[in-house]
Order: sequence, then C-alpha cells, then structure tokens
Amino acid sequence: MSVHAEVRRISVPQLTGYKGQRKIAALTAYIAPIARLLDEHVDMILVGDSTAMVGYGMPDTLSITADMMTAHARAVVAATRQACVVVDMPFGSYQESPEIAFRNAAAMMAGSGVQAVKIEGAATLAPTTRFMVERGIPVLAHVGLMPQYMNVMGGFKAQGFSDEVAERIVQDAVAHQEAGAFAVVLEGITEALGRRITETLSIPTIGIGASPACDGQILVTEDILGLSGSRIPKFAKQFADVGATISSAVQQYASDVRDGNFPGLEHCFGVKKA
Ligand code: KIV
Repeated sequence: MSVHAEVRRISVPQLTGYKGQRKIAALTAYIAPIARLLDEHVDMILVGDSTAMVGYGMPDTLSITADMMTAHARAVVAATRQACVVVDMPFGSYQESPEIAFRNAAAMMAGSGVQAVKIEGAATLAPTTRFMVERGIPVLAHVGLMPQYMNVMGGFKAQGFSDEVAERIVQDAVAHQEAGAFAVVLEGITEALGRRITETLSIPTIGIGASPACDGQILVTEDILGLSGSRIPKFAKQFADVGATISSAVQQYASDVRDGNFPGLEHCFGVKKA
C-alpha cells in the first residue's frame, strides 16, 4: 500500500481557464515548510528568484543561480500536491537565446518537477516564450517592473506613467500572449494600465503592485506574514505577525535552556527542572 498522499495539481491549462471565472490566488515559497502550509489554499506557488533577497539577503535578484533555484523548486514540489508550481528562471539563464533558455528550463523542470517556468522580459523575449512553449515548457511571462532589469531601469521603479511606456507594456504582454504564455505577471504598474492589460488579454493577468482588476494576485509570502523585517512593500497587506510569534517562542526556549530546564527532555529522560 502506498503511503504517499495523492498528488492532484491544478494544471497550467486550468489556471488559464480561471480567467473570467474566478480570481487566481498565488504566493511565493522557497522552502518545504512554507510550501506545505500554502498548498491547500492557493492556486499557484511561485518559487521566485525573490528568494535571493528574502532568503539569502542579497541586494537584488541577479546573483541567484539555476542550481539554487532548482534546489528550492524541488523542495517546494516535494512538499505540495495541489497547487500549480512555477519556478523563476534566474538572470542570465534565458536572455541569450531561445535555445539556451529551453535547455536551462528543461534542466530546471527535470531537476525539480515544477509545471512551468517564469521569465521576465519585454516583447523582445516573446520568441523565447514561443520556442519553449512549442517544445513543451509552459511559460508565465512577467512584464512591467522587472527586477532582473533593475540596472537598465535604474532601480526597482514602478512603470507605465507615460503613455509611451504604458503602450509599450501593453504590447509586451500581448506579444507574450501571442507567443503562447499561459498567463502574465504584471508588476509595479499603474492601476489604469493593469486594468487595460487585463481587459485586452484573453489569458490571466496576475498582479503584484498592479490593479485589483487583475485576474489574480501574487505576493511574497514573507511580506504578508511579517517575516520580511522592514522591507515590506506598501501594496502587501500583513495578514499575520509570524515574526513576532517566532521571536517570542525563541525567547522562551533560550530562557528555559539558560535556566537549566532543557525543554522536551523531561518527556524523554525524566530530567527534572534544576
Ligand atoms: O521572484 C518573485 O517572487 C516574483 C514575484 C512576481 C513575486 O517574481
């Protein structure tokens, strides 16, 4: 008899089909314990390269490698059985050519078991989306504020305030849709632009700091749980203060140990409080 719980994930076409039917709830996860808690509640889990900053304390997302992302993605897949799991392709692993992107994406999928990859990029990356989709790799496109392009954009800046840039971002999203992307992440754009892109596309838009008109939302889990320290973006509502809970539990633990009251051991060895 198998002891494994049945894996029955939301598929990529199912997610696309949610457009106009129901909103898509998505969050990030990088490690098994968090992924396990999210699994039954969200439609999609993104193993985001934001783990470079949130998990590793790097100043941006540029230095994380495909091997690191694959290891995180493998842990998330192993800990989940319902949500659709998508991994971010890291900086430098897909921009050079569609062929290199395909090779790296295929290796990341094979090494982790995720269902799809996400790439950041303007319309110039649409041929890469097409190349991968036509060869069996579902692609979630990411336009607007693209953290991997921060050095070109001059930082993490919201996008789409001028008509010219707004029009370009619409065209970026349309180009990825035409290339076969199953959904598009819209990051850091104006409300009006998020609404316009959502009305224009036939695939779902998943916003982060975009418009409530989007077909869904993705946030960084640590931001909504109070685990990000002081760097919480203003569009992320904090739903719990897990940081405070952890801090008080650890304080209690440390104080018990310092008192010679090794917590837990009394159940094993009959250790009495000193
Ligand atoms: O890396 C990330 O977490 C993302 C976001 C869209 C949340 O790309």
